[in-house]
Amino acid sequence: MFKKTSLAAGVAAFAAILFAGGYAIADAQKVDFTAMSAEELAEYIILESGGFHLDAAVQEGGTMRARMEQDDLQKACSVVGGGKPDAATLEAVRAAAAASITYPEGGIKLGDWQKGRELSWSGFGYRVGHRNDDHSASRQPGGNCANCHQKVSDRDGGTLGPDLTGYGKMRGTSDAMLKYVYDVIYNAHAYFPCTQMPRMGAKGVLTQEQIADIMAWLLDPESPVNK
Ligand code: HEC
Repeated sequence: MFKKTSLAAGVAAFAAILFAGGYAIADAQKVDFTAMSAEELAEYIILESGGFHLDAAVQEGGTMRARMEQDDLQKACSVVGGGKPDAATLEAVRAAAAASITYPEGGIKLGDWQKGRELSWSGFGYRVGHRNDDHSASRQPGGNCANCHQKVSDRDGGTLGPDLTGYGKMRGTSDAMLKYVYDVIYNAHAYFPCTQMPRMGAKGVLTQEQIADIMAWLLDPESPVNK
């Protein structure tokens, strides 16, 4: 039915879930799915069928429909067909990311590692694509760091990013190090252009204070990360 691309497989699986879940797609009868390319089917399911509430407000303001527009960095980093952007694009992304970073008045200091521990664990975010999530501002997003990074033995983590166990013990807390870690959490593209690490500060997910708390979790000698 479809070319055997991973996109087609994903779309087919997604469509199966939609139908199995009993979502009423009003005009499903009139649409010939078999005549669509994988991309057309994906667009149909996501944008036209009513499977998502695209015009619903999202927690940070705006709509899901607006969220689906790539921003400049995402466009620059999305190479059609896979592969790496060229050197000039990577340098432009790096420079724009560095320029996006704002610093706390009075300089970068370590905050409270206990708060940082909770924030680095919390995967709650500005959600989209759900019909029944609570999108009110009552629950603020966390950093979701643990989903990509191993931190300490009492909490397992993901392996997409480097293992951060013992991070402060290895790297210390010099001013240069504080700036580097602040920058990486605020907008990691300033050092790793087109990285998969989300732009926690630049996209307004974490405040400067929350970044300081997470930095303490990584760098404070008292934090379990460094024990
Ligand atoms: C979606 C996955 C993902 C999430 C979520 C994520 N990171 Fe990362 N992080 C990465 C990747 C991947 C790298 C490696 C950079 C690269 O080469 O792209 C990285 C790099 C880093 C580095 C630099 C490591 C070094 O060797 O100096 C630090 C520090 C870091 N992340 C901290 C965090 C913190 C703190 C959070 C939560 C606020 C977080 N990361 C959330 C994927 C992630």
